[in-house]
Amino acid sequence: MSKVEQYITSIPDYPKAGIIFRDITSVLKDADGLRLAVDEMTAKIGDTEFDAIVGLESRGFLFGMPMAYNLHKAFIPVRKSGKLPRATSRIAYDLEYGSAEIEVHREDITPGLRVVIVDDLIATGGTLEAAVHLVEQLGAKVVKIVCLLELKGLHGRDRLTSCPTEAVVSYE
Ligand code: PRP
Ligand code: HPA
Repeated sequence: MSKVEQYITSIPDYPKAGIIFRDITSVLKDADGLRLAVDEMTAKIGDTEFDAIVGLESRGFLFGMPMAYNLHKAFIPVRKSGKLPRATSRIAYDLEYGSAEIEVHREDITPGLRVVIVDDLIATGGTLEAAVHLVEQLGAKVVKIVCLLELKGLHGRDRLTSCPTEAVVSYE
């Protein structure tokens, strides 16, 4: 298991009874934890060739942006709908309770662009699955997904079969 695990805080019964919440803010607030997390996520890209990192609002920004900076690649934000000023493409997806919608600037995702999608966490996989569809319907190719954490018991990976998916730390 990665050394990053020691910097993750587990909070029982948050946000409701029976759930153990894995908090990544304790990784960020430790200089060593922050560097380890960004470096290990960057290493997960390996020798995959790509053009840009697509980061998912908001916690995906925290990791995707420094990864892009370190690799001298572009960073493209996927945001919750209603916050991007230029013409966008949107996709709706189901949450455990209700639904959500994310969007990206349409002209930023050009046909043939090879992207790595970065987020903090795979839970049900619904957010990442929607992000893959969003960028691929604009003609880009998702060549890899990289996350810091995976909650294996929720089987999110089963929804992400179209490209290699990497997580630094996994919880059962
Ligand atoms: C969290 C997390 C992932 C997503 C994972 O984001 O950062 O993006 O949920 O869940 P899923 O695999 O079940 O889709 P959230 O929507 O809470 O937004 P935030 O990053 O702004 O806190
Ligand atoms: N940690 C952070 N975000 C989450 C979690 C978690 O355990 N579960 C669903 N979203």
